[in-house]
Amino acid sequence: MSPDRLPHPDEFIYLDYNASTPIDARVAAAMQDVMTTAFGNPSSPHWAGAPARDAVETARGQVAALLGCAPREIIFTSGGSEANNLALKGLYHAQDNPQAHIVTTAVEHPAIVAPCRFLERLGARVTFLPVDGTGRIDPDQLRAAITPDTILLSVMHANNEVGTVQPIAECAAIAREHGIPLHTDAAQSVGKLPVRVADLGVDLLSIAGHKLYAPKGIGALYVREGVQLEPLIHGAGHEGGRRAGTESALLATALGAACGLAAGWTGADGMEALRDRFWSALQDRLGDRVVLNGHPELRLPNTLNVSFIGRVGAAILAAMPAVAASTGSACHAGRVELSPVLAAMGVTPEAGAGAIRFSLGRETRWDELERVVGMLAEQAG
Ligand SMILES: Cc1ncc(COP(=O)(O)O)c(C=O)c1O
Repeated sequence: MSPDRLPHPDEFIYLDYNASTPIDARVAAAMQDVMTTAFGNPSSPHWAGAPARDAVETARGQVAALLGCAPREIIFTSGGSEANNLALKGLYHAQDNPQAHIVTTAVEHPAIVAPCRFLERLGARVTFLPVDGTGRIDPDQLRAAITPDTILLSVMHANNEVGTVQPIAECAAIAREHGIPLHTDAAQSVGKLPVRVADLGVDLLSIAGHKLYAPKGIGALYVREGVQLEPLIHGAGHEGGRRAGTESALLATALGAACGLAAGWTGADGMEALRDRFWSALQDRLGDRVVLNGHPELRLPNTLNVSFIGRVGAAILAAMPAVAASTGSACHAGRVELSPVLAAMGVTPEAGAGAIRFSLGRETRWDELERVVGMLAEQAG
């Protein structure tokens, strides 16, 4: 990109909230308080430890309140990837069958796929369930995949690329029938949809702070009381002996504050209406040269993944540098490689190459989307 084409920051439009969110000013303010008052070690019994311990436990309570679980069922982690790794590897290592079987889906984030591949190298067997054209699994196929060796089902709540929401409560009923724990990666849904562990019926659930207006470097794993996990990080007995390392009161406070804000956020319907207006405007301008990827209704309220037919998504975005959005497909040596999620959904390589994911945030305005529609019509029309 030549310097004369660099947009002025006033022109920036951020539509990549599924990649990361900004830190909410109220989250930053809560962190500021803790930064100056709670420097002690949360485990220290003296006056300096108490405020740090209080901050960590208040935050744990806020995360638990959002999810509807007990505070002791929350383990703070460094983010969504660690939470997923702890769920998968922690359960695998807490039992003694090296050939144990795990069932997951073909559309998981790499933070599930890669730990599964690692466990396969240790002897585990993993089934990746197929999805339909909208990105959903069939719960009957989940039931059919279970074997006497199955120790865990892991099905993401909402997909990061296309936003499709999985039938988690139906999966949970099957998991319960078989007495097998169900994990869900809720990194994308927490803060966008109501996520209550009792409604979903899950035994483990992963959260990523930087997807819900907290900073990077903090997340959490919900673990239902009674589910045994081997820690990933051994050391002192932090987090109930499940994750060693002195807790960061600062980062825990940030996640707690973000969960408190998410609990009071009522903007999902407005966000969905804005997203749908954006999609209608694109269809008006481009007709059948633009197609939707993902489920038409059972989808995150902020996510619009569309394919510009006959175009390359990365080239479109490169021509409109003021707009931050994502392409699902990677360009390698001039060849466009279809994202595994779109490939699993049966999207053709041609349509997949033209895919762009727009993900809206709580601050996104119609005038921004209107400008993006104009730019896309120019680039892809
Ligand atoms: C569905 C999903 N799971 C897990 C992660 C990883 O979370 P983190 O970046 O906090 O490690 C992401 C982040 O993109 C995600 O979208």
